[in-house]
Amino acid sequence: MATALDIKPVTPLIGAEISGVDLSKPLSDNELGVVKQALRDHLVIFFRDQDMTVDQQKDFGRQFGDLHIHPARDRNGLEGHPEILYINNGPNSSRVNGDEWHTDVSCDPEPPMGSILRLFEIPPSGGGDTLFASMYAAYDALSEPMKAFLGGLSAVHDGGPNYIDRAKRAGIYDPTKVFPANEHPVIRTHPETGKKSIYVNKIFTQHIVGLPKDESRAILDFLFQHIAKPNFQCRFKWEEHSVAFWDNRCALHHAMWDYYPEVRRGYRVTIKGDKPV
Ligand code: SIN
Repeated sequence: MATALDIKPVTPLIGAEISGVDLSKPLSDNELGVVKQALRDHLVIFFRDQDMTVDQQKDFGRQFGDLHIHPARDRNGLEGHPEILYINNGPNSSRVNGDEWHTDVSCDPEPPMGSILRLFEIPPSGGGDTLFASMYAAYDALSEPMKAFLGGLSAVHDGGPNYIDRAKRAGIYDPTKVFPANEHPVIRTHPETGKKSIYVNKIFTQHIVGLPKDESRAILDFLFQHIAKPNFQCRFKWEEHSVAFWDNRCALHHAMWDYYPEVRRGYRVTIKGDKPV
């Protein structure tokens, strides 16, 4: 069946803007198929003018899988909606969510497959863009000996350092609360596309298993620099009621906090994923 959806790539490597679909209503089988394929092809997809309720945003997310509950929701929750991560930054913020290159909650045993963020308040003077980076492209750019070396390694992703820092800054630190820490391959294979990507990030990845501390630090520092190269990236300029839907299995993102003390607000719905292999 023909589709009215229009897909415009942002760069050849990552990002596409999709028009001609209303996300507040259940998608037809055809629309769902097109959106899923666009996410596989472009790693992050963007929609404009999608005014919807919290429940409609959750229903949109459920068409792609069960919804994830964030381990630090006590800091960023929305009453009555445990599946929502509330992005709410303004004059009282001391840090913002995702202010460094990362993939969401990679400390979980089965990290989220995707995240759907809708912003409904944009800083009036501009700023607050989100940057996305293709970890397929970052992997492809490595030398063959480096790919072979990294392919045999796994790394520990720990939620503690990030979430404890944020909780302390927010004045809600609870020393009895334990955050997830799990080991994942440094190079993962996407379960749908079969492509390989780099799967480490500065917010959660602490060390590489089986390497001495100094070697682990040197390899991670190299990878953190490598994955942040601008040629793997696209940048999304938000408008009120824009939606970004990213694949956490092959893309990283970085929320720019260049708008302090102005306000930027929105809701994120996160979709459960599976164990990286
Ligand atoms: C996040 O989900 O990491 C935050 C992204 C953003 O606020 O742009």
